[in-house]
Amino acid sequence: MTELLRVSGLCKSFGDSRVLDDIHLVVQRGEIVGLAGESGSGKSTLARCITGLHTYDSGSVHFDGRLLPRRFSAADFRAQARHVQMIFQDPLSSLNPRLTIADILCEPLRLNSALPRDEQLALATGWLQRMGLPADTLSRYPHAFSGGQLQRIGIARALINQPQLLVCDEPISALDVSVQAQIVNLLLDLREELGLTLLFIGHDPAMLAYLCDRIVTMDKGRIADG
Ligand SMILES: Nc1ncnc2c1ncn2[C@@H]1O[C@H](COP(=O)(O)OP(=O)(O)OP(=O)(O)O)[C@@H](O)[C@H]1O
Ligand SMILES: [Mg+2]
Repeated sequence: MTELLRVSGLCKSFGDSRVLDDIHLVVQRGEIVGLAGESGSGKSTLARCITGLHTYDSGSVHFDGRLLPRRFSAADFRAQARHVQMIFQDPLSSLNPRLTIADILCEPLRLNSALPRDEQLALATGWLQRMGLPADTLSRYPHAFSGGQLQRIGIARALINQPQLLVCDEPISALDVSVQAQIVNLLLDLREELGLTLLFIGHDPAMLAYLCDRIVTMDKGRIADG
């Protein structure tokens, strides 16, 4: 195994309160690492520091051997978006309600390449099939789908540029148990097929034990074990 992500000595405060305190975390390529811990322990904040959505006070994040900047420029975001994608708990709020699913899925392709539209649509259709969604999904808008379907669309959008790392912040917590299981199995299949690496934030210990190779627990801004 080779190392994909290395977080070293990362500290972050909001105002006077220290939210992340000397975080060390290494994720190997192809690994699924669970991030557990009580509400407020800093899981989402850590995920956002890794993906460049938050700046931090000190420490470092290396991705694929490269030191990432502590403050991402717009160009850093574009460059890093090809390698790392994040999905969130509420898929509806992260998908633009005014765009069709075709436009939602093709948007990341437009940012990174000059692929002709018909090839973009072919790729999008392939991903929808892979996610078990019908072909007429492309012409519809986000409000026409259930939470589980939207999360599949969100995953398709995140994976369309074949990132190496997918950071998932409680992507299934709002879904029915049966739909949760479908998505967890889908993620396991994708790891197998694509060699995808996952950092997966969740609350349900049984689900984390099923999905993850290893679970890291956070407690009050520190890594408690793992
Ligand atoms: N933008 C912000 N401004 C100020 N404080 C914040 C901000 N985001 C998070 N915090 C604080 O940082 C701490 C960690 O929050 P974070 O959202 O990372 O926890 P979490 O482990 O993801 O919790 P949950 O399981 O509820 O999602 C909390 O005390 C929270 O109030
Ligand atoms: Mg959170």
